[in-house]
Amino acid sequence: MKGIYIHIPYCAKRCAYCSFVSGAPHESMPFYVKALIKEMSERLTVGEEISTIYIGGGTPSVLYRGAISEIIAFIRNRCAVSPTAEITVECNPDSVSKEFVDEIVGAGVNRVSIGLQTDNDELLKTINRPHDRQGFLRAYAELSKIKNKSVDLMLGLPGQTKEDLRSSLALVVSLNAPHISLYALKVEEGTLLYNSGFSVDEDFEADLYEIAYEFLTKNGYNRYEVSNFCLDDNYSRHNFAYWDMVDYYGFGVSAHSYLDGKRIANDDNINKYILGNCDVEITDVSADKAQEYIMLSLRTSVGLNLNRLLSYGVDLIKEKGKKVDELIKNGFLVRKGDNLVLSEGAYYIMNSIICSLM
Ligand SMILES: C[S@@+](CC[C@H](N)C(=O)[O-])C[C@H]1O[C@@H](n2cnc3c(N)ncnc32)[C@H](O)[C@@H]1O
Ligand code: SF4
Repeated sequence: MKGIYIHIPYCAKRCAYCSFVSGAPHESMPFYVKALIKEMSERLTVGEEISTIYIGGGTPSVLYRGAISEIIAFIRNRCAVSPTAEITVECNPDSVSKEFVDEIVGAGVNRVSIGLQTDNDELLKTINRPHDRQGFLRAYAELSKIKNKSVDLMLGLPGQTKEDLRSSLALVVSLNAPHISLYALKVEEGTLLYNSGFSVDEDFEADLYEIAYEFLTKNGYNRYEVSNFCLDDNYSRHNFAYWDMVDYYGFGVSAHSYLDGKRIANDDNINKYILGNCDVEITDVSADKAQEYIMLSLRTSVGLNLNRLLSYGVDLIKEKGKKVDELIKNGFLVRKGDNLVLSEGAYYIMNSIICSLM
């Protein structure tokens, strides 16, 4: 079983912090969809079993009506999409219409991810988002036919206070959103935010994360990955497969795939992609499986399975037993049977713990 990610490089406007490949002129959409279908027909094996589809971006909800159905129908015709497949579409509140919802429900989409970021209207303006708090509530209600909803929130936005975050969390929790992603703002080179000279206060971001963690866990959410929380078992099957190193295809401009121990990165030139010329960069990472497994597994609440790591050629207890014991003794790691799991308080220093075990 494999996953499929599809990148849609269109947005209503560019957010101040965003460095994702997006911003193609909207008139090019039909040509882009055609190029996507061409790439999928060249790379997807007929009858291949598919367990998750994730249409992200960019903003898939700005596509013209019929585009998402065409993409999903193509995959269904070509592959064996599991009847229980998780099919997610990312959307921004301002482009969620009744017609959009009818289309995706008809196409079998059973999960949506909605970018709220914050419920403070002034902050939303500062980061150049086209929606406001009311618009988000309207879109959330419009999406009522799709039960499995995820909401994205951001930490560390310029001027964001602890109160702002508490208010956004309270709003999303009051809706019983089954899944919440919390992204700590990264100031990427070339973005409007970067050019404005803004820099992140990492200590304050850590305080915000702590507030969110406490609030969400108190309200019944499980943190199953450092940035992802869910009610019951509403975790993202698609994203969990990334952290579990399951193979996936990435289609579209700038999309990445992980197949048979190789990472394949599609070029990020939209014009070239539309013309059907997508250069790819292939990196054989099969020799780095153990390192990658350490890095990815410790982000999750399942943690690192020592036997699985052994199958990748690393006996962690033999090689780093002393370090593991020290991390357990200091309360940063917990041993659960054959698994090592980061402890609650260790997420702030996750990167240094991971490095010390590699
Ligand atoms: C790439 S966007 C695509 C979804 C949709 N277009 C949106 O903006 O809601 C996915 C999520 O990435 C997060 N994101 C984008 N740029 C980021 C940045 N520089 N730092 C942290 N999170 C970021 C936002 O929370 C956003 O919802
Ligand atoms: S809407 Fe999403 S993808 Fe588009 S610019 Fe904003 S963050 Fe980036």
